[in-house]
This record gives sequence, C-alpha cells and structure tokens, in this order.
Amino acid sequence: MTNPTPKRLHVITWGCQMNVYDSARMTDVLAPLGYAPAAGPDDADMVILNTCHIRDRAAEKVFSELGRLRVIKRDREAAGLPTILAVAGCVAQAEGEALLARAPYVDIVLGPQTYHKLPEMVARAARAAGSVIETDFTTVEKFDALPAPATSQGVTGFLTIQEGCDKFCSFCVVPYTRGAETSRPAEAVLAEARQMVALGTREITLLGQNVNAWRHDGWGMGGLVRALAKIPGLLRIRYTTSHPRDMDDDLIAAHADEPKLMPFLHLPVQSGSDRVLKAMNRQHTADDYRALVGRLRDARPDLALSSDFIVGHPGETDADFEATLELVRDIEFAQAFSFKYSPRPGTPAAGAPGQVPEAVKDERLQRLLALLREQQTAFNQRTEGRVERVLVTGPGRRPGQIGGRTPHLLPVHFAGPESLIGTEIGVRIDAATTTSLTGTLEQELACA
Ligand code: 5AD
Ligand code: SF4
Repeated sequence: MTNPTPKRLHVITWGCQMNVYDSARMTDVLAPLGYAPAAGPDDADMVILNTCHIRDRAAEKVFSELGRLRVIKRDREAAGLPTILAVAGCVAQAEGEALLARAPYVDIVLGPQTYHKLPEMVARAARAAGSVIETDFTTVEKFDALPAPATSQGVTGFLTIQEGCDKFCSFCVVPYTRGAETSRPAEAVLAEARQMVALGTREITLLGQNVNAWRHDGWGMGGLVRALAKIPGLLRIRYTTSHPRDMDDDLIAAHADEPKLMPFLHLPVQSGSDRVLKAMNRQHTADDYRALVGRLRDARPDLALSSDFIVGHPGETDADFEATLELVRDIEFAQAFSFKYSPRPGTPAAGAPGQVPEAVKDERLQRLLALLREQQTAFNQRTEGRVERVLVTGPGRRPGQIGGRTPHLLPVHFAGPESLIGTEIGVRIDAATTTSLTGTLEQELACA
C-alpha cells in the first residue's frame, strides 16, 4: 500500500469538553487519509469548525467565522490549493440545510454523531461539485466505527462514554442536538482507557452530557470507575457532567472507597428555587440537592463541588433568586459557571411567559458571581500552607517552572524539573488567588 498524499488539517474547537474530545477523534479518523496538523487555517487543506449551540448567538458566531474562512479558502483555491471547509458539532446538527443555504461554500456539514463517516464525506466532497451533509443520530455505530486513539492527549485526557440527554430541561438544546441518552459498552471504554494510558495519559476524565446516566449490561458508573481504577499507570479518574437525578448509591460509594476517583464533582443545580426548578423541568428540588451533597460529603468529606447556574429563567422572581443565593451559601462551591438565561429556539422556555428583562438578569448575575467568587477564593486560600498532591501536566507559567493540578482541579505552578511531568508529587502551597496556586516542591510521592 502506498502512503496517502500528506495533507494538513486545522480544527477550530468551540464549546464543551465533549467537543474537545470529538475534535481529537476527528483528527484520528482523518490521519489514515494523510492529514497531519496544520499551523493555522491558511496552511490547511481542510478546516473543521467544531461548533457549540448551548448559549447565545451560536449561529451568528459560526457565520462570522465562516466569512473569515471563506476568504482563506478563496485565496488558497486561486493559488491552485483545493481546500475543504467542514462545519461539525451542534450548530451543524441544529442548522443543517439552513447552514448550507446561507454558506454554500461550505463543503461538509456533519452532526456530532456522524464524524466516523468523515473519510467518506471528504472523498465525496473532493469528487462532488455540491456539498455533503450528514446529521443522523447513530451514536453506537459511530463509536464502533472509530479507530483506537493513535495520538496521546497528554498527561490528562478525555474519554466520551455517554452521549445525549433525555432530561429535556426547559431551556436546553442538548436533547435536540445530541439526541437520546446512549452509553458505550464497558469493554470499549476500558479498551480505550488502556490505550490512552499506554500513550502516556495518567488522568482520564469520563465525559457525557449526562455522564452518570451511563449504564451497560447491568453495570453503572460505580462499577465502571472501579474497573478503570485497576488499570496500572492510571492515577486519576474524573467524570463530568452529572445530573443530580442519576447519582446512584454505588457511585456515591465509589467516592468513599476508590482513591483514584478524585474528590471534585461538577454537579449542576441551575437554581435554588423549587418553583424555578419545576419550571425548568429539573426533576429535583433544592432540598434534594442539599441532601445529595450531604450524602456525597459523608462518603468523601473532602469532596469539592462545582455547579452551573442560570439566572433569569422565565418566571424567576426576586424571591426565587434569593433562594439560589441561599443554596449557594449552604453548599459552598469551590467553583461554578453562571449564565444569564438566553432563549434557545425550539425549547419550551423560549416561548414561556415571564421573560426576565436583561437589566434584571445582569444585576442578578453580578450578585451571584460576587458570592461564588468569594467562595472560590476562600476555598483556594484554605490550601495555603498545605501539602497538595499534584499531578504534573506540563511546563509551568515561568521558565524553570512546572505545572499541574491538585485533586480539586486547582492549577499549581512551582519550580521543578520537567522529568516530573506525568507523576504525582507533593507541593507545599505558598499562595492562592481566585484562579490558581503557587507552591514549592515538597517531596516525591510514590506513584504507579
Ligand atoms: N441559557 C443560559 N444558560 C444555558 N445553559 C444551557 N442552556 C442555557 C440557556 N438557554 C447552561 C446550563 C448548562 C450549561 C452547560 O449551560 O447551566 O448546565
Ligand atoms: Fe441540557 Fe438538562 Fe440535559 Fe443537562 S440535563 S444536557 S441541562 S437537558
């Protein structure tokens, strides 16, 4: 077999960690066709724009980026360099034909469940005069058809184990763009994890829109975490994003008895008001959330919590918003992401009565952010003077420094040799800010 002609690929990734993972897998799937990373879009025979649709103005952002890429494509083609332009991800899924109608120079439109078909689509795009569109939902088929990862994601890596969502929160497009909940088989997940570890990854973050809804052959996430923890060389396991409703006893128990499972959990609550939670179709109350966090902290007392919040969901009153602040005070989050509600076309909340004025949303967002920032700073400052177990992930911010993450996912920078990259070591924390820590190398801890 002759080697394929070398070509250059540039992937632009927007949105969540699942898109980061998808971009890595699209790169893998195109490698046998001769595509290697390009320095930038000017230098690329193919550009993939991997898009996100979760919040405001997603489609507008895509069209403005496409306008830029169109110029590059035109200039390259004038110089005799054919260039394939592909739009992937959730905007591609949501817009489909409409995207091609507005941007006919796009060669390929592919939804999140079809990127295993990219080689075939590239061949068709190269042959055909028109554009190629694939937006079916066939998650399991996609994973079966993907090759094993060929390139390392680095010391820390993502592994998608679950896709889609059946929860239909009132505000959210995910159930429409990513389809129904599906889980990858345990054997496939374990094989991919082993391969990632063989390529040098030491920490795996399991991904899914509803990751803790993962189920396979009677297994739940607790069983999967325990099986993964047996892989020699794998030091740390995380998972994101979880829904409170899917947090079962076995997974909570795994937090108590599996030391490789890190004591940090992203568990979105969205609001602290039962009225709003009901309107959001979240299927839990604020007290359900408090009780769940209580059980998790009983299992793992040093567990730190992170969450997503939406302010200004239709119908949210001042009293509802106060209930959110009260929940935040009760839980004490180590980290959080807060958003102003933005109507997503086609979702129930978009047409609901009681839309909240922008100025009110702004004011609530600022108050919530201030409280969360206070909690985050306090959480980080509690590490000062402590020795934290740090997984070294790469060079640090300054020359001579290396950097890594604590079990609670805090970035730490400290002086040390690059030979420590990929190991866990003790670092005494000297100073904390709201976003990162600095420290001094304390000792080398035994590691696998
Ligand atoms: N408006 C604002 N925030 C949203 N999110 C999802 N949809 C919307 C929307 N329409 C937020 C939720 C979710 C996070 C990924 O994005 O908080 O958990
Ligand atoms: Fe969206 Fe709700 Fe599903 Fe999360 S659980 S992806 S917010 S519908």
